[in-house]
Amino acid sequence: MSDIQSMTTDALQRITAATDLATLETLRVELLGKQGSVSGLLKTLGGMSPEERQEKAPAIQALRQAVADALADRKAAFEADELARRLATEKADLTLPAPDAPCGTVHPVSQVMDELAEIFADLGFAVATGPEIEDDWYNFTALNMPESHPARAMHDTFYFPDTAPKGGRMLLRTHTSPVQVRTMLAEGAPIRIIAPGRVYRSDSDATHTPMFHQVEGLVIDKDIHLGHLKWTLETFLKAFFETDDIVLRLRPSYFPFTEPSVEVDVGFAIENGRRVLGGSGDAPGHGWMELLGSGMVNRKVIEMSGLDPDEWQGFAFGVGVDRLAMLKYGMDDLRAFFDGDVRWLQHYGFSAYDQPTLSAGVGARP
Ligand code: DAH
Repeated sequence: MSDIQSMTTDALQRITAATDLATLETLRVELLGKQGSVSGLLKTLGGMSPEERQEKAPAIQALRQAVADALADRKAAFEADELARRLATEKADLTLPAPDAPCGTVHPVSQVMDELAEIFADLGFAVATGPEIEDDWYNFTALNMPESHPARAMHDTFYFPDTAPKGGRMLLRTHTSPVQVRTMLAEGAPIRIIAPGRVYRSDSDATHTPMFHQVEGLVIDKDIHLGHLKWTLETFLKAFFETDDIVLRLRPSYFPFTEPSVEVDVGFAIENGRRVLGGSGDAPGHGWMELLGSGMVNRKVIEMSGLDPDEWQGFAFGVGVDRLAMLKYGMDDLRAFFDGDVRWLQHYGFSAYDQPTLSAGVGARP
């Protein structure tokens, strides 16, 4: 019995004397481990007579329990000390910027598309989409460009060899205008949409890439006229370029899908050798820059899209998204948009947290 008592005293003393977690762990293995002395004592219970076992078991169990408790207490004390030491010595400066980590950016084209969606949502426009692999009926015929129409030749179209469901050929859409037809057919009238997306033409130089982006606008309702178009474009461009100093010039033009058709120019001045939007292009030292195509939707298009042109009319416009981005954010080579050069993306890209909102400004820089 006194053996057990002295073993207990000895074990508890050694536990108290331990000065670190590693020593404590060694002690735990020595005492309670499979080959440990306390475990050895527990094993002797098996060889005892029932009487002897009844007498010795409580003391041995008490020893094991005392050792286990002492080890746990000492361990908790070490851990508390360690925590207190770290709290006293370590600091986290929460005002420091997060460390550099590999980090992507929002491409200016995506940013501008988000800006457009935000501006037009405020004017009650929904965002519509259509397929990039298009049927030539939607891309041309329904937009009043029948098979032999000369405007087709101007589009440098990428055709597929297959035949399209409507009898023509499949192609990569050359503009976002087919979304006008698809939306009218699918939803009827009234309509107020923008349709941003990729378009394709076989063309390539500093200002043309085989794939680029457009945004289409379409309003169909009753009694819509050119004044609505002008107001909408002015409101959109002022919000987009974040200036009230936007002067537009509407110039008569021709598109098969609008009648009348207008091309819209925006006035600019030259400052430090760069074009800056603002003021009348007729002022000395100023000029006009062609920005977008638009017009009142041609009756034939409304008809082919399943609506009655005597009841419904509206306006449409189409503008290059990449061009808008270049004008607003100052890039001068369109090809760099699609090179995937990380340095360009870091420089011209936007933070994912920099969501355009009308209240915070649709063009905030990161
Ligand atoms: N689809 C034309 C193009 O790609 C742009 C355009 C002009 C769209 C006039 C329109 C419009 O909706 O009314 O060149």
